[in-house]
Amino acid sequence: DSRRLIDSHGRVHTNLRVSVTDRCNLRCTYCMPEDVVFRDRAELLTFEEITRFVRVAAGLGVHKVRLTGGEPLVRKGLDRLVRMLVDVPGLTDLALTTNGVLLAEQAAALHAAGLRRLNVSLDTLDPGRFRELARRDGLERVLAGLEEATRVGFTRIKVNAVALRGVTELDAVPLARFCRDRGYELRFIESMPIGADAWDRSRALLADELLELLRRGVGPLEPAAGADPSAPATEYEYADGGGRVGVIASVSRPFCGACNRLRLTAEGAVRNCLFALDEADAKPLLRPAPDDAGLAELLRRVVWAKWEGHGFNAAGYVKPGRTMHAIGG
Ligand code: GTP
Ligand code: 5AD
Ligand code: SF4
Repeated sequence: DSRRLIDSHGRVHTNLRVSVTDRCNLRCTYCMPEDVVFRDRAELLTFEEITRFVRVAAGLGVHKVRLTGGEPLVRKGLDRLVRMLVDVPGLTDLALTTNGVLLAEQAAALHAAGLRRLNVSLDTLDPGRFRELARRDGLERVLAGLEEATRVGFTRIKVNAVALRGVTELDAVPLARFCRDRGYELRFIESMPIGADAWDRSRALLADELLELLRRGVGPLEPAAGADPSAPATEYEYADGGGRVGVIASVSRPFCGACNRLRLTAEGAVRNCLFALDEADAKPLLRPAPDDAGLAELLRRVVWAKWEGHGFNAAGYVKPGRTMHAIGG
């Protein structure tokens, strides 16, 4: 029906990822170049504009919104946006994906604003490798951020680790033990060709290899019950009841067939896929004067035109014109 966002392959879109800034306080090699040029702040959508957009999307069946970046916590006063979004009718799930560097300072305000779900990116517990991967220091602050988030009341915290061959073999088991001990759900993300660095399949450490490392280094795993078929992560449970761990296997087991996601970039472009080559500019429908009917029409059109899925396992793959930090993860 016309009130839902459905694409020409029959996928219903209910999950919107909203980037609030392309800026970041880290420079992860797999995500962005060191000499990145950020957008002028005046180009970014205001919180009012973002909320207007989300209202229209929610009217079309979107019920899950995730705030991303860049690093969303470098956007000033993000708790104010959270407060605005928790009031949008129809939203049942509002979440944040952060690198955690500024989390210790902001966790209490975000929780008080109504945020309940938090995914924190952390690839290693080794300060030296953290600096190599992120090209900045920050491990201590991320760990402090995780601790503070728990202290102020966040539960079901997820930790995301990008899995890179030649790096993550050493980090997987320590990360898994760390998360298991603290009740965080760890997910490994197979590295994808969306950063500034060269990529080929051999750069990704694949799900089956990771699961084997965990089985040997931590303990037996079983597929988790009650999985969301449209979620990127495949989840497992430690057989001894020690919690969950997941893999986001975009490379070895693409999950495009069940995709329900669309994206709004920080300056107001709508993307129907992380890897989309085209995008549609929603800003003229928000600024200077909002046009809700026009926005709904644009959303329907962009979703309808979505392709079957990313083609990065095939020859002739073309990277999008933006790297991950400017799309929003
Ligand atoms: P939950 O709502 O907790 O399930 O979050 P999520 O896993 O959808 O969100 P998160 O930001 O934690 O995403 C983790 C990683 O999944 C991202 O950094 C991406 O690498 C990957 N991911 C998310 N959405 C997509 C997508 O649409 N396509 C692909 N290929 N990967 C995605
Ligand atoms: N491949 C896979 N995941 C990536 N991320 C950033 N770049 C890549 C990539 N090339 C992840 C971050 C974070 C999320 C926002 O995106 O680690 O978890
Ligand atoms: Fe969806 Fe595109 Fe991600 Fe595939 S790559 S899961 S189609 S957003």
